[in-house]
Amino acid sequence: MPDPRFVHDTFSAIATRYVAANHLLSLGADILWRARAVQIVADWRPAELLDVATGTGDLALDISRELPETRVIGLDFCAPMLAIARKRGLTHTLQADAMHLPLSDASFDVLTIAFGLRNLPDYTAALREFRRVLRPGGHLLVLDFSLPCGIARAPYRLYLHHVMPCLAAWFTGSRLAYSYLGQSIEQFPRGDDMLNLLRLAGFACPTHLPLCGGIASIYTAEC
Ligand SMILES: C[S@@+](CC[C@H](N)C(=O)[O-])C[C@H]1O[C@@H](n2cnc3c(N)ncnc32)[C@H](O)[C@@H]1O
Repeated sequence: MPDPRFVHDTFSAIATRYVAANHLLSLGADILWRARAVQIVADWRPAELLDVATGTGDLALDISRELPETRVIGLDFCAPMLAIARKRGLTHTLQADAMHLPLSDASFDVLTIAFGLRNLPDYTAALREFRRVLRPGGHLLVLDFSLPCGIARAPYRLYLHHVMPCLAAWFTGSRLAYSYLGQSIEQFPRGDDMLNLLRLAGFACPTHLPLCGGIASIYTAEC
């Protein structure tokens, strides 16, 4: 499981280049993945939404633009990432640990987390904590990396473990952050394993939507 101190320091170090690096290394696909997540959230029409591990605020800002009536709070434990989120226009931010949310029970209609759950030290405990702050009938959306199936998996792994860390080292100055990315994707539950984890954490009706042949996935569940 990821070490929170390492995760914190890694994101602090790459904060200023994080947004551009995402778009470059995914060839812009991350924009489409977040757009799909926003469409799903829009159907739920939340009044209050918490975006955990909001980082530089990409998903929170997209949701705020699509749903101007929704109160969106972006939470992250990394001050340099949150500072960029605020500069980019995210009004409500909270610096806190996703494992111990300083928030009341049943206080949100929707909780989103994009590329964040994978970085937490205990997935089941985190999901239980997310469930605690959701209202009965509330929705969870997890967007994160998975691995493509079939013949695409081997070339993708070549990119993930060999090409991307070199490109990222050149662009962000941190090869370590992107070697960690590949390792964290390999050990992160995907597909049915993630659906089982969601059930274990007490969520109902879990769903899985693979994106780009499974390079990323959106999981949803109800409280
Ligand atoms: C890969 S970034 C994702 C940022 C954003 N959600 C996105 O879609 O680009 C992961 C974020 O998770 C945050 N994070 C990791 N562990 C955390 C924790 N225990 N509590 C709060 N934030 C955490 C990091 O600081 C980082 O900003």
